[in-house]
Amino acid sequence: MVGLVENSVESIEVVPTGAALGAEVRGLDLSKPVSDQLKEKLIELWGEYMVLLFRNQDLTDENILATAEVFGGQQIAGSRAFFLKAGYKAGESDRVSKHAGISLVSNLDQNGKPAKVTAGVGSLEALWHTDNSYVEVPPNGTLLWSEIVPTNGGGETSFNNQYRAYEELSDEFKEAIEGKHICHDNLRNTAGRLRPTAKEPESRNEITGPAHPIVRIHPLTGKRCLYLGRRYEGNSSYIDEMPDEEGDDLLSKLWAHATQEHLCWTHDWHPHDLILWDNRCTMHQRNPVDHTQARVMHRALIKGEPIISAWDEQAAAE
Ligand SMILES: [Fe+2]
Repeated sequence: MVGLVENSVESIEVVPTGAALGAEVRGLDLSKPVSDQLKEKLIELWGEYMVLLFRNQDLTDENILATAEVFGGQQIAGSRAFFLKAGYKAGESDRVSKHAGISLVSNLDQNGKPAKVTAGVGSLEALWHTDNSYVEVPPNGTLLWSEIVPTNGGGETSFNNQYRAYEELSDEFKEAIEGKHICHDNLRNTAGRLRPTAKEPESRNEITGPAHPIVRIHPLTGKRCLYLGRRYEGNSSYIDEMPDEEGDDLLSKLWAHATQEHLCWTHDWHPHDLILWDNRCTMHQRNPVDHTQARVMHRALIKGEPIISAWDEQAAAE
């Protein structure tokens, strides 16, 4: 948005995607300050559409972090501690950038060339998930800004609406998950690869990660949404209150239900797009990336608040 002098509520235009979630917000330059009034409006739009797209944003990492402040502040990615523990140095590796609040999602190797396998998740990430569900207080949202994207497509990101996924569950399904929690596997990264210091789990007893309710209440809307987080092949996230096989079977059905096509919207990235998504009520996935072409994205997480469980009657009623 070259030439825009100041951001204001009056200057914005909201264009819904027409799919189950998402809207483009036009008329903003997020390298410039955002007033309190506009901030309120943007948070309201975020609550309504779950995913917001801002195109043509010429941003620095500092601008991205300032935008994170608009939506509640930044949160340091859970993966950063794993990399630091493994000996990576802040600012010297693209895995741990000099800004604690920024992660690079890149498919460039140490020589700056696109590669299929890198130390991070830039080339392989493809599974449906919500960011950092494997920490005790997961981030409310994520900002992702595209610096470089493949010229022939690939690496598109899809999002889905987990309010609707919950609403469309049969009564039988709702009854089966009532009061239950998932232990969210923190041993693997989003691409399903073991973290630098983790060992392959041989049973679910070796899975580490916090337990979260399968249904949570969104603080902005007061509505219920499914919260599945992440799951990989083999020993991975499991339902705390159920035996292995029974729980796995229920999880498979839930994942199939929650990732149906009609709940989704897909974004085909252009350079300098910024997307804000809500990790409380949406999941996302990425299409495979052509590993011969560079894809470099900058990510900031929006600070989380303790999860409101749908099983906690008092909290759910407030
Ligand atoms: Fe992600």
